[in-house]
Amino acid sequence: MCYSSFNELNAGKHPGALTTLYHYFPHYTTFEGKRKETIRIANFLQGKNWSLMTTFPFSLLESTHWRDYELLDTGDGLKLERFGQYIFARPESQAMWSRALSAAEWNNAHAVFQPTAEESGGHWIEKKKLPEKWEMKYPLPHLQDLTFSVMTTPGRHLGVFPEVASHWDFMADLVRKAGRPVRVLNLFGYTGLASLAAAAAGAQVTHVDASKKSVSWARENQALSGLSEKPIRWIVEDAVKYVQREEKRGVKYDGIILDPPKFGRGPKGEVWEVYKSLPSLFELCRACLSNDPLFVIATLYAVRASAIHVAQALDEIMKKYKGSMDSGELVTRETSAKRLLSQAVYARWSK
Ligand SMILES: C[S@@+](CC[C@H](N)C(=O)[O-])C[C@H]1O[C@@H](n2cnc3c(N)ncnc32)[C@H](O)[C@@H]1O
Repeated sequence: MCYSSFNELNAGKHPGALTTLYHYFPHYTTFEGKRKETIRIANFLQGKNWSLMTTFPFSLLESTHWRDYELLDTGDGLKLERFGQYIFARPESQAMWSRALSAAEWNNAHAVFQPTAEESGGHWIEKKKLPEKWEMKYPLPHLQDLTFSVMTTPGRHLGVFPEVASHWDFMADLVRKAGRPVRVLNLFGYTGLASLAAAAAGAQVTHVDASKKSVSWARENQALSGLSEKPIRWIVEDAVKYVQREEKRGVKYDGIILDPPKFGRGPKGEVWEVYKSLPSLFELCRACLSNDPLFVIATLYAVRASAIHVAQALDEIMKKYKGSMDSGELVTRETSAKRLLSQAVYARWSK
């Protein structure tokens, strides 16, 4: 229904711009309801200078396949989530509205993260007995489930960023349907779930992260997922340094995933600062792309960056390839009042 309405409006005149319009209405809304307004805006846009307008589609991506994860409620600067059978309350500064669930339901949390003034600082307060770690599953469409362990960590995270799963589906689908050997580079790979999704789909994967602990965790997840036989190279290294070396060695990749933090450090203290470091990392990634790349996916958390900016930067390095760019926000819908929580911006290019 959505696409037929879109095509009708599109009428082959300015496809990019109307794609942008279309995607501004999130995928889960009924497009028909917005039809009149869209036609009005489309008519207005007819007379505009198209060369000045971005043509990247903008989407709100929801990861809808989770069973072991749930965003239960948000509000008052907090989020309440279920990881497996355990419930956690964490700070979420962008939840500027009121909580929908009762205090009793929030008090049901197994642990609450108490932040300190400095960014990412704080500690967990355990309210009920928690195991040191436990297992969760993610059902990758058309492939086996990913099985991985989670636990509370001092950095307030639990070993999985559930909202990013829509990228795993997207990438695994591209790899699965490629019909040729695919080499994937996963930078800032954390506990390895994107690497495992790519490997499960048949890719040969190189996973890079500065933290030895994260890489060990990722290797454990590989075993838990029954993917030990899959070709994954686990590298503890600074992401920029590693890609520099790959470029010198002439190593090429068909797909690259980058999930960098705002600030980070390589194993030898190398400083990662997203605004300063991302442009040169994008350049290095370009040099490491094969002649026939399948995808490049960049996700940014906790930054004041618009998805459009990330898409424009990525577009610069992907110009010579034939493909399409998508950009937007990774969102999760709470089960309580069905509001959306936006957690990251992304841009992704695919063939
Ligand atoms: C937590 S994940 C990504 C999730 C999300 N993007 C975020 O900002 O929290 C970030 C990963 O980047 C890794 N990292 C940080 N600085 C790095 C660097 N210079 N080179 C490689 N990996 C790095 C961390 O060890 C961590 O596993």
